[in-house]
Amino acid sequence: MTFDRSIKIAPSILSADFANFGREIQAIEAQGADWVHVDVMDGHFVPNLTFGPPAVKAFRPHVKTFMDVHLMIAPVDPYIEAYTDAGADMITAHVEATPHIHRTLQAIRATGAKAGVSLNPGTPLSAIEHLMDLVDMVLIMTVNPGFGGQKFIHSGIEKTRQARAMIGDRPIHIQIDGGVTPQTAPLVAEAGADVLVAGSAVFRGGSVENPSPYGDNIRAIREAAENTRAAA
Ligand code: DX5
Ligand code: ZN
Repeated sequence: MTFDRSIKIAPSILSADFANFGREIQAIEAQGADWVHVDVMDGHFVPNLTFGPPAVKAFRPHVKTFMDVHLMIAPVDPYIEAYTDAGADMITAHVEATPHIHRTLQAIRATGAKAGVSLNPGTPLSAIEHLMDLVDMVLIMTVNPGFGGQKFIHSGIEKTRQARAMIGDRPIHIQIDGGVTPQTAPLVAEAGADVLVAGSAVFRGGSVENPSPYGDNIRAIREAAENTRAAA
């Protein structure tokens, strides 16, 4: 994957039909998704439980684009290899989930996967200041992680602007996750984000039998984000 700052839409399969992941992944890719975002939750770091490595391994053959695995688990290090063996192209770890985030990011890169670092809404950007040479992506959470369908937290916009300045010319993506809609996408795109995760705003109104609303929803988010950049 070559690096660029074009807008990329990464649907979160947390909002997919849980009895139909393979077909849901195929449907969102056919409808224009750029990446596939997989939310891994452990019932400990966040109050919800989702996908272990075998589930991620089962998703893998269906993903033709890029599988971005967002680990909301603590500890992180004992599970890195299991998730990269399962086929993750990128692993994102939370700075709040491990006392040695520097080591965690090194361990992710040592597997050959790309490495992302994530910040909860309450965590200052300064927490990742010394990690810029170890990451391929900064994930700025605009909800408290754990559930889809929550309301966008606006303090993430200013944090995105500051992250963009901190990154400078480095080839590091800025991903936004939580409450992304055609209304909120322009706010973060204008501030410097390029990868927009969206769960409920992508899957609403569609199904594997009727996937065209997924395409409409992806286009609406992308166009809203691209238009604000064109205007800037
Ligand atoms: C939240 C997850 C998100 C979530 C986004 O803990 O990390 O990826 O699924 O869902 P929406 O887009 O519905 O806010
Ligand atoms: Zn996520």
